[in-house]
Amino acid sequence: SSSELIDDFGRRVSYVRLSVTDRCDFRCVYCMSEEMTFLPRAQVLTLEELALVARAFVELGVEKVRLTGGEPLVRRDINQLVDEIGALPGLSDFAMTTNGASLPKYASQLRDGGLKRLNISLDSLDPERFRRLTRTGDLGKVIEGIRAAKQAGFARIKLNAVILKGRNDDEVVDLVEFARSEGLDISFIEEMPLGDVSDHDRAETYCSSDEVQALIEARYPLIPTTETTPGPSRYFRMSDSDSRVGFISPHSHNFCSTCNRVRVTVEGRLLLCLGNEHSVDLRKVLRRHPGDIDILKKTIVQAMPLKPERHHFTTDGDIQVVRFMNMTGG
Ligand code: GTP
Ligand code: 5AD
Ligand code: SF4
Repeated sequence: SSSELIDDFGRRVSYVRLSVTDRCDFRCVYCMSEEMTFLPRAQVLTLEELALVARAFVELGVEKVRLTGGEPLVRRDINQLVDEIGALPGLSDFAMTTNGASLPKYASQLRDGGLKRLNISLDSLDPERFRRLTRTGDLGKVIEGIRAAKQAGFARIKLNAVILKGRNDDEVVDLVEFARSEGLDISFIEEMPLGDVSDHDRAETYCSSDEVQALIEARYPLIPTTETTPGPSRYFRMSDSDSRVGFISPHSHNFCSTCNRVRVTVEGRLLLCLGNEHSVDLRKVLRRHPGDIDILKKTIVQAMPLKPERHHFTTDGDIQVVRFMNMTGG
């Protein structure tokens, strides 16, 4: 099915990212501030509302759904939502981005529910440093989670590492070696200026993908893949491994011209771009017309012209988007 969702720049929207909770059991320094308050439950979409939103997008031709957070696995009854979305006809890809800590508990149920791919955040292989970067995270649990995901039969698990100069840039090669030894893909991410995280000066910790790539290539030459994903990652491979190495470079290699995605925030705001505030309130529609998928679909179609051409992130430490990452899941 081809998508009915096309924006004013001719980009076809085939991918929706749903944030299912703003809560997280970690407090990663680039994502949240130390003291975060979370939304009252009434402001968050219910599971029924989330399922209806997913169905509306799929009926409009969206082929790929990714659940994000916060941490999606701290949402109660997440399995039920995964089961419902996993059963939608027409969906070719169904994924989740997680911190991994709850995967020992959930991995096999998620797999059974039809989830196909997992992206797991991993910024350090040193337990103490991992704790400092996540504030509350336990590296051992995440490693256990990665193994549980492999055990459950997830194919092409991808690690995500946000690289901050002076914090974890010296671990780039170790992270690649971990990915290789576990048979995983890995993406290195430039930090985006969302929310005032007040932990570090983003201008000082900025580490470009080209710098990260040079560190890797000193040990493992990277071969560009012909694969053109309509998304942020540029993928490379190594001569002696199946693992792929990706770079997500919002600052140094803009990818907005091939953008194929929109997001729904935890409050049901249809956000047309991660780096802007252009949005439409789906929650209002859902609550005024409960269960009415036609009005929901119409609202989504009408929102497409609001999608901005691109983000305008800079590396000078200025915050362009007040919203923290945990509201939208990246
Ligand atoms: P795929 O679904 O396989 O394309 O995964 P992904 O790597 O895009 O998703 P993931 O949730 O793992 O996010 C990895 C990083 O990419 C996070 O830092 C996201 O914020 C960032 N990202 C994902 N989509 C976009 C986007 O449309 N714009 C920007 N600026 N960043 C994005
Ligand atoms: N910049 C870039 N990536 C971020 N993430 C969270 N906050 C930021 C940020 N400010 C990443 C997480 C996770 C993904 C969904 O987004 O590490 O892997
Ligand atoms: Fe798309 Fe906006 Fe992300 Fe650019 S920043 S890729 S336009 S969502």
